[in-house]
This record gives sequence, structure tokens and C-alpha cells, in this order.
Amino acid sequence: MKKVGVAILGLGVVGGGTYNILKEKKNDFKKNQGLDVVVEAVLEKNLDRALSLGIDKSIIASSIEEIVTNPAVDIVVEVMGGVEPAKTFVLKALYSGKSVVTSNKELFAKHWSELEAEAKKMNVGLFFEASCVGGVPIIRTLIDSMQGNKILSLKGIINGTTNYILTKMSTAGYSYEEALKEAQKLGYAEFNPTADVEGFDATYKLSILSSLAFNTKIPIESIHREGITNITKEDIAFAKELGYNIKLLGVGKNTDKGIEVRVHPALVPLDSPLASVSDSFNAVSIVGDNVGEIMLYGRGAGALPTGSAIVSDIIFAGTHQTYYYAPFENNEKGAKETKFVRDFNTQYFIKLSVKDITGVLSKISGIFAKNDVSIEEAKQVAEKDGVVPMVIVTHSGPESAVNKAIEKIKTVDGVVSVDSILRIEK
Ligand code: HSE
Repeated sequence: MKKVGVAILGLGVVGGGTYNILKEKKNDFKKNQGLDVVVEAVLEKNLDRALSLGIDKSIIASSIEEIVTNPAVDIVVEVMGGVEPAKTFVLKALYSGKSVVTSNKELFAKHWSELEAEAKKMNVGLFFEASCVGGVPIIRTLIDSMQGNKILSLKGIINGTTNYILTKMSTAGYSYEEALKEAQKLGYAEFNPTADVEGFDATYKLSILSSLAFNTKIPIESIHREGITNITKEDIAFAKELGYNIKLLGVGKNTDKGIEVRVHPALVPLDSPLASVSDSFNAVSIVGDNVGEIMLYGRGAGALPTGSAIVSDIIFAGTHQTYYYAPFENNEKGAKETKFVRDFNTQYFIKLSVKDITGVLSKISGIFAKNDVSIEEAKQVAEKDGVVPMVIVTHSGPESAVNKAIEKIKTVDGVVSVDSILRIEK
């Protein structure tokens, strides 16, 4: 029977989950894959954490050097998160001829080219299924199962923390702050929630996923990013009245004009599959020119879901003789040749506060018309303290035209404020 030696760097949530799955399914791997997966070493500063998982003291390493020089280790699993020291450790492992399995989206989105160059040089594997959408097998779907297609778009909810917050705001009427506090209490959001709520985490994932989908390097800098911190209860209530839910989306489109990549909150129709993806769940829709739309749904985080993805990579690495790398030119030159769309073409939801005086609405609609922005729907609710909240939904049009109109509208007598501008994704 083939033996595969594994070292785990970091025994936090994902490392612990991975260890438990490897332990629990050890006999299944022997029986089903003919593979004896042995955890030969772990690197974890917190000794109590390691011991509480039932790990024998003898395999707790005191340095990365001890791991990369251990001939019994074939695969190094990096589940520490963050760029450093993870990057140094991964490079050391690759340089020492070990294959690497990682869940680290930030490291991968920022340094994929460099890590891959080292893996290729050493003829070892570099696996990252767990880096995007946790337990949902989206990386292998994109690499292995879509070759018969040109992928036209990839769109989804790829951050569980923000989805939990927006779900609570929508279903329990919480404010953003209240929903964030609850997410923190339940362990969905970090004490410093910036990476999730400002859309960085989703941007890292979209960079990796859209690179694979569109066969070209998509640097994180090319992705338009907005978080959810400005979304209000009122936005959500208005959106609902108009038949929409608000979700943080990662959107990638391969258009005739170039590639469009963006992370931002968006209105999605209440009867669309994405609208009913609740709590911390993730879902991604992929449209191929031949297969049409497929949809992947599941848990995007957590010990066992992410551990499940890590373990699938370990088994893949253990059962394949050759490794695959990015199906595109994975370097700066490749990135520079890609053409990106900057002026997005979508529908918009615009919330304004106006004074209830004759002619304001006609002035507003006149400005939109002058800028070639067509209005689909306008709605206002009862006056409160002399101010009337009003929502305008546009037909699809270029963002530049909408922004130009908004600047003009802000100067109209009777317009108190432009409170929200959100995109609609149908
Ligand atoms: N914080 C991430 C999320 C975890 O909420 O989706 C997985 O990247």
C-alpha cells in the first residue's frame, strides 16, 4: 500500500478539522484509494491545542526546518492564513520537494505566480481547493470539468460572514452594527471584521476563481471592490418592496469588450436562486457557452467543510503522478495583456431623500433622460420630518452616465441627499 506522509502547519479551526477527518477516515482511504495517509508532523505554537486533538507529542515539530527536512513528509498542508510566515513556509516546503496543499486565499491571490514557479521548478504539486468557497469543490470543477466550454460568467456569494450579516438584516430587521455583533458572537466574523465586510476576502477568491474561469491572470488590483458597511435597514426594506434581496456578490464576466470583475453589494431578484442563499452559506453560478448555467452551493467556511476540501487535495496529490498548474500564463506579463472593462453596464437602485415640493421628481427624471439613463421604476414613501425617501430603478446603462446624472441631481433644489447607489444583478 502506498504511504503518504502529511505535515500540518497550523492547528486552528481548519487545521483541527483536517486532522480529525484524516483520523476518522484513515481506513476508508486505505480501502477506497489504497492510500495510507499518515500525519507525520504538525507545527503549532499552542501545545494545549495540539494535545487536545489527541496528537502525540512526538510529532509536534519545533520549526519549519524540522518539517521540510523530514523525509517521511510528502505533503505540507498550510492552514495558517495570512501572507507571512505562510509564504516563507510554503516556499521552503516546495523548495524541499514537498507538495503543498493550502487554504490560504490571500497568499494565493497575491503570490500564486511565485509559488507556482517554485512548484514547477521542483516538479511538485500545489493544491488550493480549500482557498475558495470552503467545502464546495469549485476549483476542480473549473480546472477539470469545464474544458468543453468558454466560461461566460461566474457570479456568486463567496463570503459567508457578510452573507450572515445581510441575512440577519433582511430577516430579523437588524441594523448593520447589530448583525455584525451577532456574527462576531457566533464566531462568523472576526474581532477585526475588515477583511470580510470590506470585501477583501471575496476579492481574493474572485481573483483565483476568475483567473481559472477565464484562463488569464486576474490580479486583485483589477477587481472593483466595495464592502457592505454602508448598507442600511432602509436599503434592504426598499429592495424587498421592489422584489429584491441584497447580497455581497463576486461577479466575473467575459465580454466582447474585455473582462469585468467586481465585488460589491447588489440587488438580486427575490425569486433567483442566489436570493435564497442564507446565513453563512455560499453559492456560485457558472455559465459556460455549451453547458449553460451550473450552480454550486454549500458551506464556504468551517472546520469540517474546509477540512473536506483540504483532504480531497491530499488524496488527489497522493493518487496522481503528475501535477497540473494554472491553465494560463501565470505571471505579470500574462496579467498585463488582459483587457478589463471599467465602465460597468448594469441596472441601478438609487435611493434619495427629497423635499416634498412640486417638480422635484420631474427635474430628477429630466436629468436622467438628458444623460441617456432610462428609468424602469420610481417609488416614494410617506414624508417623515419634511423629507420624502425615494427610490429610482434604472434600466441597464453605463455606470459613467449614471454617475454623471447623480452629480447633477445632487445640485437640484429640493434634493436633500443621495443616500445609496447599488447595482442590480439579474
Ligand atoms: N471569512 C470567510 C467567509 C471564511 O466568511 O467566507 C472563508 O474564507
